[in-house]
Amino acid sequence: MIPFLTSRVNVVYIDRSGKRIPVKAKVGDNILYLAHKHGIDLEGACEASLACSTCHVYVNSAHFDKLPEPEEREDDMLDMAPMLQENSRLGCQIILTPDLDGIELTLPKVTRNFYVDGHVPKPH
Ligand code: FES
Repeated sequence: MIPFLTSRVNVVYIDRSGKRIPVKAKVGDNILYLAHKHGIDLEGACEASLACSTCHVYVNSAHFDKLPEPEEREDDMLDMAPMLQENSRLGCQIILTPDLDGIELTLPKVTRNFYVDGHVPKPH
């Protein structure tokens, strides 16, 4: 095993206009903060505290099954997300593992921010 190679994870975001944005990430990166780092418009109003659904993403099917099952609070929040699909997850709960190399995350066309109206968190 070569640690440098195995700690890299390739991620593709597909933004609301359908544009593919490939990003190089590391094992342990969080999909929400990774998006912020690269200027991708994934909101994350509650800053990963499972109190909103604005970090909602669709995960490509090949990688969806590799994610750990969502905890109950994530499921509850997802239930409130507009345009929920079978492959919906909350981006702030996805932490990259080597298995997730090549994961594709599509941003839904709309999100609903019922956490703090109009609050847009600053990138970290
Ligand atoms: S940022 Fe609010 S639940 Fe993910």
